[in-house]
Amino acid sequence: MAKTKTQFSCQNCGHNSPRWLGRCPMCEDWNSFAEETNLNLSNDQSSLASVRDDFRGMKEATWENIGVHGAPPIQSESSTSPAWVSLDAPGEDGPDAPPDTQKKIHLRRLTTGIPELDRVLGGGLVADSFTLLGGDPGIGKSTLLLQVAQGLKTHQKDLKIFYVSGEESIDQIRGRAHRLGISGKNQIFLASENQLERIFASVKELRPHVLVMDSLQTFSSQFSQSAPGSVSQVREIAARLMALAKSAGISVWLVGHVTKEGNIAGPKTVEHMVDTVLYFEGEGGQSYRLLRTVKNRFGSTQELGVFEMDGEGLREVSNPSSLFLSGRAEAVAGTAVAVPLEGSRPLLVELQALVVRSTLGTPRRTSVGMDNSRISLLAAILEKHMRLKLSEWDLYFNVVGGLRLSEPACDLAASAAIWSSLAEKALPADWVFIGEVGLTGEVRKVPQIELRIQEAKRQGFKVLVLPQSIPKRVAQMVSSDQSVRIITLSRIEQLSKLFST
Ligand code: TYD
Ligand code: MG
Repeated sequence: MAKTKTQFSCQNCGHNSPRWLGRCPMCEDWNSFAEETNLNLSNDQSSLASVRDDFRGMKEATWENIGVHGAPPIQSESSTSPAWVSLDAPGEDGPDAPPDTQKKIHLRRLTTGIPELDRVLGGGLVADSFTLLGGDPGIGKSTLLLQVAQGLKTHQKDLKIFYVSGEESIDQIRGRAHRLGISGKNQIFLASENQLERIFASVKELRPHVLVMDSLQTFSSQFSQSAPGSVSQVREIAARLMALAKSAGISVWLVGHVTKEGNIAGPKTVEHMVDTVLYFEGEGGQSYRLLRTVKNRFGSTQELGVFEMDGEGLREVSNPSSLFLSGRAEAVAGTAVAVPLEGSRPLLVELQALVVRSTLGTPRRTSVGMDNSRISLLAAILEKHMRLKLSEWDLYFNVVGGLRLSEPACDLAASAAIWSSLAEKALPADWVFIGEVGLTGEVRKVPQIELRIQEAKRQGFKVLVLPQSIPKRVAQMVSSDQSVRIITLSRIEQLSKLFST
C-alpha cells in the first residue's frame, strides 16, 4: 500500500516545503503555498511504467503506414534490448550508417500548415514530441490548436488528431471549429473529458498521431490525490503524457493557462518535463499575438511567430515589421526605429522616449519593452558623453507594439530617441539606427548586420545609421546601392552633430 504524504507546494514554481510558508523562497511569490497530498509511489515510476507497457509497440506502426518517414529520435525501451546504443549504430547519422540514410534528417517532422508555427518549432512538429503551449486565458491557445489540427490534417493524409478538452463541451468545440471553417474529414476527433486514464483508454483505441490536451489544469489522474490544477496533479499529468508521447510515438500538445493567482499551478511548474515550451502572448486590446519559444529540444529558442486574431481566427503575419511600424506618426520628436533580431528574423520596431522635467530628487526611469537598467545605463552614457542634463529629467521609454527587446543592438536607436525627445527635434522618418553603445561612449558593431540592413531596405528606409566598425564587405554592399545612404558613427556624441546640420 502506498504511503500518503502531505506537503506544501508553491503553486507558482512548484517548490516544496514540509510546512506552510507565507512567501516562496524560490520565486518569492506571496501566499502561493497550498497543502497537497501525494500518493508516494516511489517517485511515480510504477504509474509511468504502466503507460509505457500499455503503449509499447504502437510507435512503429503509427507512422510508417501514413508515409511519414525518418527514424524515431528515441529508441523504444524494450526490456530485452540493452539499455544503450552506439552513437554510430546503423540507421543513425554516423559514419557506419548505410549511405542512403546518412543524409536523412532523422526526426520525423510534420508541417502544421502554418509556416510561422513550423519556424517557431524549428522546422515543423516533431512526431513524438511533447509541446507545452502556455498563455493567458483567452489569448487564443485553443483557437491556435484547432487551426493546427486543420493544418496537420490538410497536409498529412491519414494523420489522426485527437483534441481533448477538459474545459469545453463537444458542441462548443464543434461550434468554434465550424466558425473557423475547420472540418474533420474523419481525421480530427473530439472528446470532452477530464480524467486522464479514460483519455488514455480512448487514445489506445483511436490511435491518433497527434493528441491535443486543453488544458493542463483541468485534468486529473487517479495516481494523484491532489485537486486538479495543483502542483502534484499537473506534474503527474505531464509525466504521464510524456511517457505516452515517447512510448506510443504520439505528438502531444499540452495547453497551460498562465495564472496570476497562486491557487492553480501554472505551466512553469512542468516546463522542465517537456520537449518544447511555447508561450502565446498579446497586448491588452491589441489584435496581434506573439508566439515565443522558451525551450526547444529540436530547434532554436529565439524564434518568434507573429499572428493576428480576427473574426476568422488567427492569421499569420508574414511581414511583422509593417505591423510594428503601422500607425507611426511622421517626424515627431522622441521616436527612432531599431532593427532587433527575433531569432533568425530581423524586425523593424519603433522606440519612443519621453523626457519631462523631474520634480524628484532622483529622476524617474520607467521603461516598457526594454530593460529598465539598460535605459538608465544609456541615460548615464548620454549624460556623460553628450553632456545632456538627463539627471534633471524623468525618462519614460516604450517599445511600440508590446515587443520586449533585450539586444544591445537597439542601444543606438534608444539613445537617438532619448536625445530627440530632450532636444525636441524630430528624426527623419526614413532613418534607422543599428548599433550597441558602450560605457565609454563608443558605438560598437552588432551581429548579423547584413540581415538587419536588408530588412531596413526592404521596408523602404533610406538612411542607415551604423557603427563605423562594420565589416568592409558590408560597407561596400550598402554603398553600391543607390537607394540607401549610410552614416557611420564611432562615438555616441556624433549623434547630436548629425541633426545640427
Ligand atoms: P481561445 O482560443 O478560446 O483562448 P484560450 O484557449 O487561450 O483561452 O480564444 C478566445 C478569444 O479569441 C475570445 O476572446 C474570442 C477570440 N476569437 C476571435 O477573436 N476570433 C475567432 O475567430 C475566435 C475563434 C476567437
Ligand atoms: Mg481555451
